[in-house]
Amino acid sequence: MSDLAKYQKYFTKDYLMGPNSFRLLDELIQRKPAEACFHRALDLGCGFALTSFFIANETDARHVYAFDLWIPATENYIRIRENQLEDKIIPIHGDAMDMPFAHEYFDAIVSVDAYHYFGCKEGVFSERILPFVKKGGYVMIAIPGLKEQPQGELKQLFEAWAEGDDAQLFKTAAWWETLLKDECGDRCEVAVKEAECFDAAWQEWFDSGHEYGIRDQEFLQKGLDRILNFLLIYVKKTESEQDETAR
Ligand SMILES: C[S@@+](CC[C@H](N)C(=O)[O-])C[C@H]1O[C@@H](n2cnc3c(N)ncnc32)[C@H](O)[C@@H]1O
Repeated sequence: MSDLAKYQKYFTKDYLMGPNSFRLLDELIQRKPAEACFHRALDLGCGFALTSFFIANETDARHVYAFDLWIPATENYIRIRENQLEDKIIPIHGDAMDMPFAHEYFDAIVSVDAYHYFGCKEGVFSERILPFVKKGGYVMIAIPGLKEQPQGELKQLFEAWAEGDDAQLFKTAAWWETLLKDECGDRCEVAVKEAECFDAAWQEWFDSGHEYGIRDQEFLQKGLDRILNFLLIYVKKTESEQDETAR
């Protein structure tokens, strides 16, 4: 395991944007297939680029592209320079739905607590994300999800917590597996696992004292913790675009 204690200074309300992403990313990396490498990696939806720091320091990454929509690239660049990582991390502002990269450019696309915001629609993965990964490369995603569809009182509690449309962003492992397998067909191998760091990741978010963390804790204690989980998704691209055209 990586030494998460090195990143403890970021486990605060100024940096965390939800359940502790360092913990999720650490588990995503620890449980990846052995052959997956990060040499040229995209951190998709990197937020404050802290997940990019972790990829840059704790994997075999040579370059990490820190790509985000809500956080300006200049703001992330200042943080990257303060951490002497400017030769390794490239900050970019943009939308995952229209990425400015060459096809088959990345060994790995990594996305932590972000993919569900844009990836729940059919076609997004195969048309907007997969083209940018090399043949043999991986897309590795960690997202919040559901153990099962909530029913009755738990459904009401879940919808009150997620406030309307956001409830649609939480899916089960089976839902993601079906979506990705249907989209990719023979071009990919797909595996979806439940993460084990659920309790620790949430507890560190609650302990940060963030106002959303305090609200989340109230809802989880009322029973939401019985249906929520975190999912780790690994997709290996097994065919290049040339292979596909030749078929
Ligand atoms: C909860 S934050 C997680 C940030 C970071 N990965 C982490 O774990 O600390 C979700 C991030 O997803 C990004 N995001 C949402 N929709 C996006 C899109 N269409 N394109 C790129 N990034 C997006 C947001 O900008 C936001 O920073």
